[in-house]
Amino acid sequence: MCGIVGAVSQKDIVPILIEGLKRLEYRGYDSCGVAVHQDGMLRRARSTSRVAELQALAAQDGVAAGTGIAHTRWATHGAPAVHNAHPHFSHGPGAEAHRQPGRVALVHNGIIENHDELRAELKGRGYVFHSQTDTEVIAHLVDFHYHGDLLEAVQTAVGQLRGAYAIAVFHKDEPHRVIGAREGSPMVLGVGRDEYAGANFVASDAMALAGVTDQIVYLEEGDVVDLQLGRYWISRKDAATGRFVNVEREVKTVHAHSGAAELGPYRHYMQKEIFEQPVAIANTLDAVTGISPELFGDGAYRVFKEVDSVLILACGTSYYAGSTAKYWLESIAKIPTSVEIASEYRYRESVPNPRTLVVTISQSGETADTLAALKHARSLGMLHTLTVCNVSTSAMVRECALAYITRAGAEIGVASTKAFTTQLVGLFLLTLALAQTRGHLTDEQEAEHLKALRHLPVAVQAVLALEPQVIAWSEEFARKENALFLGRGLHYPIALEGALKLKEISYIHAEAYPAGELKHGPLALVTAQMPVVTVAPNDTLLEKLKSNMQEVRARGGELFVFADGDTRIESEPGLHVIRLPEHYGALSPILHTVPLQLLAYHTACARGTDVDKPRNLAKSVTVE
Ligand code: M6R
Repeated sequence: MCGIVGAVSQKDIVPILIEGLKRLEYRGYDSCGVAVHQDGMLRRARSTSRVAELQALAAQDGVAAGTGIAHTRWATHGAPAVHNAHPHFSHGPGAEAHRQPGRVALVHNGIIENHDELRAELKGRGYVFHSQTDTEVIAHLVDFHYHGDLLEAVQTAVGQLRGAYAIAVFHKDEPHRVIGAREGSPMVLGVGRDEYAGANFVASDAMALAGVTDQIVYLEEGDVVDLQLGRYWISRKDAATGRFVNVEREVKTVHAHSGAAELGPYRHYMQKEIFEQPVAIANTLDAVTGISPELFGDGAYRVFKEVDSVLILACGTSYYAGSTAKYWLESIAKIPTSVEIASEYRYRESVPNPRTLVVTISQSGETADTLAALKHARSLGMLHTLTVCNVSTSAMVRECALAYITRAGAEIGVASTKAFTTQLVGLFLLTLALAQTRGHLTDEQEAEHLKALRHLPVAVQAVLALEPQVIAWSEEFARKENALFLGRGLHYPIALEGALKLKEISYIHAEAYPAGELKHGPLALVTAQMPVVTVAPNDTLLEKLKSNMQEVRARGGELFVFADGDTRIESEPGLHVIRLPEHYGALSPILHTVPLQLLAYHTACARGTDVDKPRNLAKSVTVE
C-alpha cells in the first residue's frame, strides 16, 4: 500500500528516495512520484508506471537535490492517474496562483475523513484543486497556515484533520527542512550515519531505509517531526495546554531487512515463498525447546493463568489462521475462543470481558483495521493482549503486551503463503502453552506435539514434491471462471484460505463452504462446469465428507480432492485425487494448505496474471 520516503541531506538524495520506494514496491501501488527543492523551487516527477520508470523520468528531467520526498500511491480517493499521484503541490490561493511555482510539496498515507468539508472551505478561500485526492486538501491547508514557519503550519493544519495520516512536507522558502507527522498511519524517523551523517530521513517503514541507516525512531501517534540538516525535533500536543511541546523518543538500532530479496531460481516471489515454508517453519520453531508461556514474553504465565477466554482479531489470510486456531484452542486448551474480522469488530457493539486474552494476528503488523480493533478492545477494558506477527519492529508488536514473532522472513508476494503457515505454528504453540497452564497438557502429550512440530518442515517438503501433479490440474482450472472449495472442521478455514488464494491471484471466482452446508444452498451451483476442490484429511469427519462428495458427484460436479494417503479415496471419472502423505493429526491443516497454494499459483501462471502484484491489491493494508 502507500509508501513514504523523505530526507534532508547535503548530498543529492533522489537515488536514496527512489531506492526506498523500490523497497516498498512489493506492497502494491498504482502510481508514484518524487519532489525536491532544487534551485530555489519545487520540482517533481510523477508516473502511473513502475518506480523504475519514475527513476528514468527524474533522471531525464534532471531532478536532483538534497531535500525531497517520494511516494508510492495505492488509490483510495481519485483514480490511479498522474494528476492524482503524490507529491501534491500547493501554489497558494487565487485562480492565477497555479501558474506560479509551487510553495508546498506534500505526500500522505492514510485517509482524511473530513476532506470534503475542508475542500469546500479552501475553495472558498480561493484554492484551486487539481486532483480528486484527500491529500491535496492537506497541501493547501498547510499553505494556508504558513506564515514563515513550516513546523507551525503543519502543527496547526493537522489539528483540523480527521482520519488517519502520515505526511511528509516541505516548503519553497525553507530549503533544508522536511516536516513529518503521523496519526493512525505508521512513520519512522531515520538518523543518518556514515556516508549520510548529518542527513535525516522519514519513511513509512524502517525497511525503506535499509542500507542507509539503522538508527530508527518509531514516531508515536500524534508526533510531529522537524527534520533539518544535522538535527531534528519531535513534538506533540500537550493534552492539558493544547500546545505542542518537544518530546524525547528512543533511537533504536533496527536491522530492517530489505524488501528486495533475491528471486533465485523461482519465477515469482510467491513460488519462492511457498518453497521456503520448510525453512520458515523451522526458523519459527528454532528457539522452542519446550512448551512454556514464556515463549510469548515475560509475564505470560500470570496472564495465561488469569484469562478465561480468547478473542482473535485479524484480517484476510491472518483471519483464517485465527479461525483454524479456534479449533485447536477449544479442543486442546479447552478455552472458549471467538474469532472476529477486525474491520467488523472495531465498529460492532460487543460484550467485553476483561479476562479475555486478545490475540491479534498479522504478517505485516501494520494492518490498519487490526490495529484499530486492538485499540478498540483495549478501550473496552480488555488489557491482556498478545500478537502473532512476522515483523518484530511493527506497530502491532509494539502495541501488544505479549508477542510471538514468526520467522517467515520477508514476504514479498501479495498473496500470503509462508506467513500463514508460520502463523499456524505460532498459534499451535499458543494453544499448547494455554493448555499447559490450564492443566490440559501432560508431559507425554507435550513431547508428542513437539515431535510432530519438529518433523513438520520435512512433512511440508514431502507435500511440495506434489507440485507436478498440481501443475497438471492447474491447466484445467485456468479455463474455469468459478470454483467451490470444501472442507470440514479444522480444515474448513483451510478451504477458505484455498479459495482466497485462487481468487486473489488468478481472478477466478471461488467460494469455500463447510461441506455439510452444500445441501443448504450452494449445491444449486454444482454442474459439470463447476470444479469442486475438496480438502480430505483422514480425520473423524472423513466419512461425513465422503457423503458430501457423493452429493457433488450425483449432480455431475467434478471433484478435485487432496486426500491423505490413508483415506482410500480412489480416482475415477469425475473424481481426481492427489494423495498427500499419511494423516498428520492436529497439524494436518498446515500440510493441506500447501497444495492449495500451489494450485492457485500455477493456475494464475497459466492465466498469465501478475502473480506477485495482483490487480487492486496491496501487501500491507495501512488504510481502513
Ligand atoms: O499483514 P496482515 O497479515 O495483517 O494482512 C492481512 C490481510 O490483508 C492479508 O492476509 C491478505 O488477506 C493477503 N493478501 C491474503 O493473501
